Amino acid sequence: MNNTSAHTLIGPFSQIVTMAHLPEAGPILDDELHVLEQAGVVVQGEKIVKVGDYIKLMQEAEQQDYQLQTINEPMVLLPGLIDAHTHICFAGSRANDYAMRVAGKSYLEIARSGGGILDSVRKTREATLIELVNLMKKRCDRHLQEGVTTCEVKSGYGLSVDDEIKMLEAIQLVNKHHTIDLIPTCLAAHMRPPEFTDSKIYLNCILNDLLPVLKEQGLAKRVDIFIEDTAFTEADSMEYLLAARKLEFDITVHADQFTTGGSRVACEVGALSADHLEASREEEIELMRTAGVVATVLPGASLGLGMHYAPARKMLDGGLCVAIATDWNPGSAPMGDLLLQAALLGASEKLSMAETLAGITSRAARALNLQDRGIFKRDYLADMIGFPTNNYKEILYFQGKLKPTRIWKRGVLKDIN
Ligand code: NIG
Ligand code: FE
Repeated sequence: MNNTSAHTLIGPFSQIVTMAHLPEAGPILDDELHVLEQAGVVVQGEKIVKVGDYIKLMQEAEQQDYQLQTINEPMVLLPGLIDAHTHICFAGSRANDYAMRVAGKSYLEIARSGGGILDSVRKTREATLIELVNLMKKRCDRHLQEGVTTCEVKSGYGLSVDDEIKMLEAIQLVNKHHTIDLIPTCLAAHMRPPEFTDSKIYLNCILNDLLPVLKEQGLAKRVDIFIEDTAFTEADSMEYLLAARKLEFDITVHADQFTTGGSRVACEVGALSADHLEASREEEIELMRTAGVVATVLPGASLGLGMHYAPARKMLDGGLCVAIATDWNPGSAPMGDLLLQAALLGASEKLSMAETLAGITSRAARALNLQDRGIFKRDYLADMIGFPTNNYKEILYFQGKLKPTRIWKRGVLKDIN
C-alpha cells in the first residue's frame, strides 16, 4: 500500500457535524442535525471513507493498520465552507464609493455618476494578469484561513472579450496553484461597457466572440448576468441566457437586488440559482420553489450597502433551498467574511443554526451543482475544518470570531498560519 492509498483515522473530535441526511430545501430544525460525539473520520487520499464513533474506528484502525492523526484538544469538525458567490478577481479599492454611500448617496446614484462597477472595470483592465493573480491569491489565503475550501469567482470587471479572458485566466491560474478550489463563472454581462451604446449588441458580442472561447479553453462552465435597472433588462437577459444554455453553460443570475424581475427570468431559463433577492416577495419565492432554483442570499452586500437582508426566513418557510454567500467584491460587499456574515444573517432572520450551517456547506454545494462536497459522506472530498470548541453551537454563537484552527483540503492538513 503506498501513502496515497493508505487509510488515515483522524480524531477524536468532540463533535462531527456531518450535514448528512438533511432536507435539500425548506426549514431545518437543529434537532435534525446529525452530530456525532467523540467521533473520528477515516480518510483515504482526498476522500472520506467513513465517520463514526472514535473508539470503534480505533479498533478497526489497529486491525487494518490505518495511519493515525490524533487530535489532542477539544475540536468540532464541519465540512469545509463553500462560498457560492464572489467577485474576488478585481483590482483597486472603492473606498471612495463607500464614503459617498455612508454620507447618503445611493449605490445606484453612484453607479449613474460614473463610480460603482465601471470604476472597478477601469482598474481591472489596467491590471496585468500577474497583478490580478497576486491580488486574488491574498484573498484566497484569507478565505482559506477562515475555513472556505471552495469558492466561486466571477469575471465581470473586464467587459471586453480580452479583459474577460484575462480575468478568467487569472482565476484558472490561482485555482491551479492555491489550496482552495475555485469555480469560475463568466459575468461579462455585469454591465454594458462604455464602448457599446446598445446592450443587445454587446450581449451578442459576448455570445459570439467570448462564450465559445471559454468553452474551448475550459475557462468557465457557468454564465451569470446582472438583471437590474442600471444593468440588463429582463427581455435582453432572457434571450442571452437561453442562448448561453444552448451553448451548454450552467446559469446563475444576479436577481431582485433592488427591483424584482430577475428571479422570474432565472426560473424561466432553468438557472441553478438566483442570487441577492433582497427585493423578492412571496410570489417570487413561490416561482423559485416551483422551478427548483436555489436562492443564494448575500448578507455581505446588505451590510456593505446598509440595506435590509434578503427574506431568508420566508424563503425557507416557502420551501426554498437557501445558500448563503459573501458576494465579496470591491463595491457592495468589501468584507468577505462568510462565517461572520452568515451568523449575522441568521441572528436577524431567525434562522436555525442548522439552516445557517447548511447555507454555507451542503446547500451552497447545491447552488454550485457540486455533488462531491459539503457533507461528510463516503467518497465525498475530505474538505474539513476544525473549530477549537466542544459545542458546535459556539461556532455561530461567536458570530465569526471563533476561527477554525485546523483545515484539511482534499484530505491534507494545511498550515494556515
Ligand atoms: O453582486 N450587483 C451587482 N454586482 C455586484 C456588485 C459589484 C460591484 O459593486 O462592484 C454585486 O453586488
Ligand atoms: Fe454579486
